Amino acid sequence: MADALSITASSVDPGLLTLPWSTPLGEWPSNAIVFLPKGISRHLVRFSSLSGRVVAVKETTEEMARREYDMLGNLARLDAPCVERVAVIAGRTDASGRPLPAALVTAHLRFSLPYRALFTQILRPHTATRLVDALAVLLVRLHNVGFFWGDVSLSNTLFRRDAGAFAAYLVDAETGELHETGLTRGQREHDLDVARTNIAGEIMDLEAGGRLEGGVDALAIADGIVSSYRSLWGALTDKETFATSESWRITERVQRLNDLGFDIGEMSIEAAADGTRVSIQPKVVDAGHHQRRLLRLTGLDVEENQARRLLNDLDEYRARRKGADDEEMVAHEWLTRVFEPVVRAIPWDLRSKLEPAEVFHQVLEHRWYMSQAQARSVPLAEVLTSYIDDVLRHRRDEAMLMGPLTGTMTLPIPTASGSIRTLGSPDADEGEDEDDDATVDWRDLV
Ligand SMILES: Nc1ncnc2c1ncn2[C@@H]1O[C@H](COP(=O)(O)OP(=O)(O)OP(=O)(O)O)[C@@H](O)[C@H]1O
Ligand SMILES: [Mg+2]
Repeated sequence: MADALSITASSVDPGLLTLPWSTPLGEWPSNAIVFLPKGISRHLVRFSSLSGRVVAVKETTEEMARREYDMLGNLARLDAPCVERVAVIAGRTDASGRPLPAALVTAHLRFSLPYRALFTQILRPHTATRLVDALAVLLVRLHNVGFFWGDVSLSNTLFRRDAGAFAAYLVDAETGELHETGLTRGQREHDLDVARTNIAGEIMDLEAGGRLEGGVDALAIADGIVSSYRSLWGALTDKETFATSESWRITERVQRLNDLGFDIGEMSIEAAADGTRVSIQPKVVDAGHHQRRLLRLTGLDVEENQARRLLNDLDEYRARRKGADDEEMVAHEWLTRVFEPVVRAIPWDLRSKLEPAEVFHQVLEHRWYMSQAQARSVPLAEVLTSYIDDVLRHRRDEAMLMGPLTGTMTLPIPTASGSIRTLGSPDADEGEDEDDDATVDWRDLV
């Protein structure tokens, strides 16, 4: 008997059986495929719809698929930012019984974009820096839990907006190794080296395609990950020594780490034999300090910078509500009286443009700009109307970025100013310094 189709999944989704597993992925009918932008890869990856959500299907060997599936499970257990595993499909055969490659199925990360789809035609230094900084944070977080990546690159990362910055997620765990006792300096340096080389190559590719702003140095951008990584890693792990009389510096260190978004699991404190000096070395648990506080107070699960932004607004709200001391009560009030009305005010047809927390962040920004321009405190309702009509309406959808099967380079895209511009026209970006409002290069789609 031929091998039967075998499905390994942590939760059973009967929809998995309905995907056309006896057809090579490259030949799946277009009604089984969802066209979304994706990064460059060796293996064939395509998106499909499964029980109301989108999944990525990657054809590879059974061994590799299982390895990556297990690794993604471990990373999820460690709370590392990565795509969510769904299943491994093995034992596939075509209609005439010939074996087909195994498939790894992962959930499409909503509102995430590959780096090439994050900017309009041209990558500007500001965007490049934000991408590299986000990747540095991801690498620090992965190293902190003992994950050696082996293939750090922009293409193996997905990005989500995070209150004006980006949050990076690992998408390709194939080469990774988990060392629960921690990584050696050599392993970390190796990953950094790979990161630098890959990023330089990726940025040079953009340059060769005319997609890098003139005069920008690809190597300098790639080097940015090293400095960014080192300063963050140092802030998290460096040993500090000071006089016993300065013991307030312990609290200060904790505060600094919290401000960076990290929590501390334990702090080892050593006193010198003569009792005059103290050394501290924190052991960082993970990022997500603000995320966790916001989740605890409101049940909202958002990115770290978004959480920081929302908490600032919540704290200001609390300060205005004099006498309201109970943090949880005020948080509930803020949620129902401030946050939710803003989210509800977004018309249905605009809700897949941006995540609610990012919308809220942008509304706050918009309020600030309007208030500055008009030298008065503009009421939220007024801000919202202006934001919806002048900003949000003109963005592309980011929940899932849809596009035509083959690239037509003349697809009209509405711009922030309300005019129509054309994909691929050389001056599409002129006069704008915002990089995130409109187009995707359809060549990256399939
Ligand atoms: N769950 C997912 N959500 C969104 N995009 C995904 C997902 N899985 C894969 N992709 C997209 O598919 C691309 C290729 O996936 P992946 O990097 O795993 O393939 P690969 O062949 O192993 O890559 P490499 O050439 O680096 O070995 C990614 O860059 C990403 O854009
Ligand atoms: Mg890859």
